[in-house]
Amino acid sequence: MALNSKIKELKEKREKLLLGGGQQAIEKQKAMGKRTARERIMTLLDQGSFTEYDLFVEHDARDFDMDKKSLPSDGVIIGSGTIDGSPVAIYAQDFTVAGGSLGLMHSRKITKIMDHALRMRVPLIGINDSGGARIQEGVNSLAGYGEIFFRNTISSGVIPQISVILGPCAGGAVYSPALTDFVFVVDKISKMFITGPEVIKTVLGEEISMEDLGGARVHSEITGNAHFYSESEDECFAGIKKLVSFIPRNNSTKAGVIEPAEPLPGFNIDKIVPDDPTLPYDVRDVIRAVTDRSDFFEIMEHYAKNIVIGFGRIEGRTTGFVANQPIEMAGVLDVDSSDKAARFIRYCDAFNIPIITFVDIPGYLPGVDQEHAGVIRHGAKILYSYSEATVPKITVILRKAYGGGYIAMGSRHLRADYVLAWPTAEIAVMGPEGAANIIFRKDIMSSDDPEETRKQKVEEYKKKFANPYVAASKGYVDAVIEPSETRRFLKHSIIVSENKEVQMPQKKHGLPPF
Ligand code: HXC
Repeated sequence: MALNSKIKELKEKREKLLLGGGQQAIEKQKAMGKRTARERIMTLLDQGSFTEYDLFVEHDARDFDMDKKSLPSDGVIIGSGTIDGSPVAIYAQDFTVAGGSLGLMHSRKITKIMDHALRMRVPLIGINDSGGARIQEGVNSLAGYGEIFFRNTISSGVIPQISVILGPCAGGAVYSPALTDFVFVVDKISKMFITGPEVIKTVLGEEISMEDLGGARVHSEITGNAHFYSESEDECFAGIKKLVSFIPRNNSTKAGVIEPAEPLPGFNIDKIVPDDPTLPYDVRDVIRAVTDRSDFFEIMEHYAKNIVIGFGRIEGRTTGFVANQPIEMAGVLDVDSSDKAARFIRYCDAFNIPIITFVDIPGYLPGVDQEHAGVIRHGAKILYSYSEATVPKITVILRKAYGGGYIAMGSRHLRADYVLAWPTAEIAVMGPEGAANIIFRKDIMSSDDPEETRKQKVEEYKKKFANPYVAASKGYVDAVIEPSETRRFLKHSIIVSENKEVQMPQKKHGLPPF
């Protein structure tokens, strides 16, 4: 055959395969408000950058008449390309082919691109849209999942791993996203659960819709399995692009530095914290008052809102922010917020991203529910993560830093490199009211005017401890600064600590309390 006719044959074969499960299945996919797997890749990656591998792979299953069926590309598309010029490896399950179910060859394609991503030290993006283990392939599909989970774990902390849930992700399949760094979900499209509504009905006799069981809102607001919630696939892809712009390609490099810029004039940092220490404020305004262009990319915005985490830039350099949020439960730490912050701190540490912590915390949330939910174990995760992190750590105490909260939120004692405090900082074992009631109880009780004595003692305690100067006199706080000086100090700290190096004792690994 002459070259031209061979090329024609190749083109025809390709064209057929590019249709995936065929026009009818594509229409069904679109009717659900979903793009096809290839369209998703093309929308996310830079135009013309996607290079596909294994287009011609076919399944080799024999049972249940599978030998009579062709499954184009075995229901998953793999390859690499770029996002804003930065290389990434990607796979997208094709629901139009056997419901994107995972058989042996399908799993081999995914593990091939995972191995490629690890070898090339580039981020891996997985788009999940699948009915789960291909039932006809039995243990081969289970083996396939196991191979994926193993690679997710080995790659963890070496290359960024991003999961995008754009359809069902059911049964054991959910554990691949759960092992990755960031999970994106889209309203009405994403469904994640271990046991589906039918199993729940059979076993427990309870009726529940897929949406209420494991829809996008459930995972963004209740379970904390998802880090980013979007209303549409377009919004989701914009979010992935933004995330990729903030993180480094791998753990042996740093995120790209972009042109620095001042925060927007709308954020007056001197006016954010109210004069009355009992009044709340949105700590995200403080973050936006110090970041370049006032840009703050929040992570897990809808979950455990009493702590705020996310990325911003200082002097063009990616920085992770952890901040107590006074407008939610007064900014206390509890089980969920501890988990949320601890994992983010470890992410920043693994990928060479400095951490800035803003502290305004009245303490850990008291109560039987929290104690029984394991607040001791979960709260300890924050202590562990800050202590273990060797990236630059800068802490700014804005207002309250009481009790265990003071220690946990990136204190000097957990090896913060710089601890700054605003004049409004109150660093003490507990709030003045509680403290005065305990240590001056006898004076108050024996007084002719207990209420007046109580007030006096509260004032006395406030004067002595509810300020940053005692901590500063011991060197636990390096500088007491005006709010308007914060960005200057942060810029200085970020630049000075760029080559920070810390030697930790040799060990196989530690035992964080998870
Ligand atoms: C083989 C599957 C499949 C599967 C879907 N299909 N799931 N084929 N194995 N797991 C096929 C369907 O037969 C159908 O083929 C096509 O994909 C589209 O599926 P529909 O059911 O028509 O689509 P829809 O109505 O949108 O429903 C989607 C769905 C449903 C909710 C995902 O298909 C479903 O419940 N599937 C089974 C889910 C499941 O229980 N999976 C196993 C989980 S256990 P045709 O030829 O008709 O187009 C698991 C264990 C992993 O994954 C363990 C790892 C440790």
